[in-house]
Amino acid sequence: MDAEAIAVEEPQEEKMEEEKEIRIEDLPGVGAATAEKLTQAGFGSVVSIAVATPGQLVEAAGVSEAAARKIINAARNGMNMGFESGIDVLRRRETVEKISTGSKSFDELLGGGFETGAITEIFSEFGGGKTQIGHLLSVQVQKLKNEKDPVAVYIDTENTFRPERIVQLARGAGLEPEEVLKHIKVARAYNSDHQMLLAEKVEDLIRDGVNVKLVVVDSLTAHFRAEFIGRGTLADRQQKLNKHMHTLLKLADTYNICVYVTNQVMAKPDMFFGDPTAAIGGHIVAHASTFRIYLRKGKKGSRVAKLVDSPNLPEAECMFYITEAGLKDVA
Ligand code: GTP
Ligand code: MG
Repeated sequence: MDAEAIAVEEPQEEKMEEEKEIRIEDLPGVGAATAEKLTQAGFGSVVSIAVATPGQLVEAAGVSEAAARKIINAARNGMNMGFESGIDVLRRRETVEKISTGSKSFDELLGGGFETGAITEIFSEFGGGKTQIGHLLSVQVQKLKNEKDPVAVYIDTENTFRPERIVQLARGAGLEPEEVLKHIKVARAYNSDHQMLLAEKVEDLIRDGVNVKLVVVDSLTAHFRAEFIGRGTLADRQQKLNKHMHTLLKLADTYNICVYVTNQVMAKPDMFFGDPTAAIGGHIVAHASTFRIYLRKGKKGSRVAKLVDSPNLPEAECMFYITEAGLKDVA
């Protein structure tokens, strides 16, 4: 059912690459009025122009066909549409850091921990432990070895951030609780627009010199789900969610940040197990996430984490307990 929204949104996929380079106003022959018309018609980004046909721009902005060609060429030239070598990619991968969960089996499942430079989506039913892990990562990120004063940004949409819990987990991790709390920046998001704006503001923190290494969005989808009800609004919702995911992806990519987002799924095991993408936000969220973890309650109060999607790791499961001090492996 999300297919339509995805088709519409596909051109935005690479937007994050270009945004920082040139704006449409920088293209030859695009003044304020033309930029406005292009934006109105859905050509607000350089990438959308780069992949447009001259005819589309003629219609959208009332420019001549020759002018449209010139604009499109400039957009293509201005964009970094090229390739990078495998070595460059490897170098970039070498800067990836891993935030340990404190559980050996969970870390192993993830190839060492939650990665920087990526979005990890975790989904479960209520009470699965998503918020707990968000708290835990906010503490554990501060143990990153190669970072000076790493900071966690916690975008809290459900009012479930608890400093008291951070204190417990900090003690469990052998860290000074007050120091840990000082290195967590919490913002309550009151609606989806606010949530999106907060994610955009993270870049301001970084420019101010804050060494942000973790961004938690808990819950990623709750506001979107509550605000967009009914089929007619689905495309709008997916479009906004897509934009939000790209803000997060850009943060992860540009600043080598670990982005952790939570997503609730309904208790419909029969329907759900066959199709983990039934998580809210569907393919938009799934597609933008590098790692996806499905969390469920196991025997005797344990938790089972299943890695359902990863570019380089096998699909596997692990088990642990949530305890006052942090995560504990099942003996
Ligand atoms: P929703 O946001 O409702 O979808 O749930 P969630 O997935 O965020 O669950 P959450 O992280 O809030 O998990 C709550 C569960 O974690 C509780 O039911 C407890 O089982 C466990 N938990 C929370 N705090 C503690 C603690 O201090 N000690 C122990 N042992 N378990 C805890
Ligand atoms: Mg929660």
